Amino acid sequence: MKSPEQHWDTIHSKASLTDCDPTHCANVLNDNAFLLPSNGTALDLACGLGANATFLATHGLAVTALDISKVAINKLSQYATQHTLNIKAYEQKIDLDSFTDFAFDVIVVSRFLDRRLSNAIIEALKPDGLLFYQTFTKEKTAPTSPSNPDYLLNRNELLTLFSPLQVILYRENGLVGSPYVGLRNQAQFIGQKHNN
Ligand SMILES: C[S@@+](CC[C@H](N)C(=O)[O-])C[C@H]1O[C@@H](n2cnc3c(N)ncnc32)[C@H](O)[C@@H]1O
Repeated sequence: MKSPEQHWDTIHSKASLTDCDPTHCANVLNDNAFLLPSNGTALDLACGLGANATFLATHGLAVTALDISKVAINKLSQYATQHTLNIKAYEQKIDLDSFTDFAFDVIVVSRFLDRRLSNAIIEALKPDGLLFYQTFTKEKTAPTSPSNPDYLLNRNELLTLFSPLQVILYRENGLVGSPYVGLRNQAQFIGQKHNN
């Protein structure tokens, strides 16, 4: 049986460098880019090929990107060098203590869920820092997302996991209305940290 590293290396080895393009970033970032600061630091957690990281770097942020897959990190590093982007990408198995020594103006997580990390993510935000999160929900209109419920959000779960943050945006269309339009199979959350 493959380790998680091997599993993800196999998937990412099929990708091309153009998959690192910012155009492939999560909609929660793209649709709400006006909220981003024009400089500062950002973290792309479980970055994969790093389209979120390249999007943030093109917006002027100094980006740290972490992922368990060496293949993905190598591709992202190569893309960043080619396009002169301020991205430091590290192969790392993300755990509770992976980013406790750092603080970021922006953290983005897309299509990744480890519920144990929510407090560590909040801790890693600077005051006024923003969290952009988008991932799969249990309620789905198509069988496109992971089948393992551990990786799927319950209703409103991002609101619960990140309740200490001020909600700047939350979107979860669930199964309401026409399944062919709207945000289906995923939820989006943007939150801001305040120290008071
Ligand atoms: C579905 S991909 C999403 C990648 C990227 N965030 C995106 O939206 O395109 C999930 C990513 O999580 C990474 N991953 C899974 N478990 C991890 C762990 N424990 N530590 C670090 N990265 C992990 C995988 O290598 C993979 O790149």
